[in-house]
Amino acid sequence: MESNSYSAAVEEIKSRCNIVDLISPLVPLKRAGSNYKGCCPFHKEKTPSFVVSESRQTYHCFGCGEHGDAFKFIEKYYNKTFPEAVEQLAKQYGVEIDTVYARQGKKKEPYYEANRLAARFFYSGICAKGNRGFEYMRGRGIEPATIKKFGIGYADAGWDSLSGYLKKQGIDEGMLKEISLARTSQKSGKLYDFFRDRVIFPIINTQGRVIGFGGRILGDGEPKYLNSLESLIFQKGQNLFGLNLTRSEIQKEGFAIMVEGYMDVVGLYQAGVKNVAASLGTALTEQQARLLARYTQKAVLCYDADNAGRKAALRGIDVLRNAGLEVRVMHVEDGKDPDEYEKKHGRAEFIEMMNRVSKSDIDYKVSVIAEGCDMQSTDGRLRFFRRAAEDLSKLSPVESELYIKKVAADYGFSEGALRNQVQGDASAKASQPQPRPRDSGEGEEEAPPGTVYSDADVMLEKTVIRLLMLNGSYFPRAAAKRELFVTGEGLEIFSAMDDVYREDADFELTDLKDRLGENALNYLQQILDEIRIGEDDKKAFDDCMERLEQAKRAKRITEIGDILSMADPDTDPVYIKQLTEELVTLNQMNKR
Ligand code: GTP
Ligand code: MN
Repeated sequence: MESNSYSAAVEEIKSRCNIVDLISPLVPLKRAGSNYKGCCPFHKEKTPSFVVSESRQTYHCFGCGEHGDAFKFIEKYYNKTFPEAVEQLAKQYGVEIDTVYARQGKKKEPYYEANRLAARFFYSGICAKGNRGFEYMRGRGIEPATIKKFGIGYADAGWDSLSGYLKKQGIDEGMLKEISLARTSQKSGKLYDFFRDRVIFPIINTQGRVIGFGGRILGDGEPKYLNSLESLIFQKGQNLFGLNLTRSEIQKEGFAIMVEGYMDVVGLYQAGVKNVAASLGTALTEQQARLLARYTQKAVLCYDADNAGRKAALRGIDVLRNAGLEVRVMHVEDGKDPDEYEKKHGRAEFIEMMNRVSKSDIDYKVSVIAEGCDMQSTDGRLRFFRRAAEDLSKLSPVESELYIKKVAADYGFSEGALRNQVQGDASAKASQPQPRPRDSGEGEEEAPPGTVYSDADVMLEKTVIRLLMLNGSYFPRAAAKRELFVTGEGLEIFSAMDDVYREDADFELTDLKDRLGENALNYLQQILDEIRIGEDDKKAFDDCMERLEQAKRAKRITEIGDILSMADPDTDPVYIKQLTEELVTLNQMNKR
């Protein structure tokens, strides 16, 4: 696996970097026993509760719970991704990443160039007289100036129009396949274009590079959108469509409107609502949230008013909140999506509607709970009461107090009763071993390239994928534990499954095939060939989930060891006691 050489660089950095020296120029630290102490850079405080351990090479804030190693610190402090943090530290400590990763860094240029040429080719296609793509976009109310602004193009219906052109420009076939501009026919062995007879939306990153494309079919047909497959230069979970054009507007307005589709971005932008961006056909990822957080602290999720849109909004709330953003949520009133609404009503009305119908994330969550309960019946109201209280119990004391008042008033409950229930939930939670909200969620969500994973992790991933292919109904449980998927290929398979998952159907290889790159497809084939599941697949799946929990507990045990070595018995006796109890529980559970 390529990442070994990358993780060699990570190891080298670790061996050269002393976390105390790294942090102390940024955060003034004073010696405190065997550790160092300072004011936490991640939350406002006057008395120091940020501790750095030289022996463990970790930091921990006893105020806000931030915790991690040198890489994590750089990620948090500069709002970077893991690979970016590695890059920065490599520079700082003179570690050459003379590995696949660095070579990849240099090698990217020709791929960008090929994509740039392709984008120009598509654009000149749509500009041709009487072009089908142009007519289609005109029919949808898109003006030539907007087409130009976004560089929207058209891929004609020929089998090798683009590849023929690019080959003449000196781009070799291998590269065309790697960035999925072309594929080889299995029957004839001939090269053919990936995008044919589609309107093409170039996906451009904030450095202005064309990293991929989305192609819409003209009219009805399947698949409606075809996206570039993931490649060296394109990871859909790490980019937002439109951000290259809209980020300054987002900064200026002070918030971003996050939508689902290409056409929503283009339509809203044309209507004058320019602080907008879209995730690329997937639920918002942690990286996308962090990317957005570079430009704004506030987001309005404006997703389709269907089930998928609601589900995506609920997930989006958590991801954005975790990245420190303030989130509001809305669904458009008249029409299926923002694009349709804007077409009928225009900018002023869109903004008026947004101000009127958007809800704070908590209000939204509570309203979704209410929709799922029969609020006319006693049973339903009770269910609502319990579930809403559970959500409110996860908030900070100030926030939860605010919402207790609001929810009680909005839904006609006694404030006191709701407060009691919320506080009951909160203390039940505190007495249980619980993963801390930020830290333990992060880094597990998606394994960054270069993360070292063990054979056992890979085996678990493979087994789960095999089980999911056997029985699709396990998917939601696996999806709730994304940290299962540790390899790049595994993640790609997961994300393809996420795209096609339906409650009542198993996964079909043919549906997944279209969404997978060559490596991921080979990996899936290998899994299907290699992994055998015994009689009882339900038990096999339960075992996998349990193994994962065990690994999580093991990780938390190490972490608690770190924290305890930094805790001050004089100032944190209660916390130390709580951690010690948690440690005992965790150890017992893992012994079983
Ligand atoms: P229009 O029908 O052109 O207005 O598109 P839309 O943006 O309203 O589409 P929709 O709400 O159905 O989908 C939202 C986004 O999901 C799209 O912009 C795509 O990024 C993605 N998407 C939709 N359909 C497909 C599909 O068939 N395959 C893939 N890979 N992505 C899709
Ligand atoms: Mn639409």
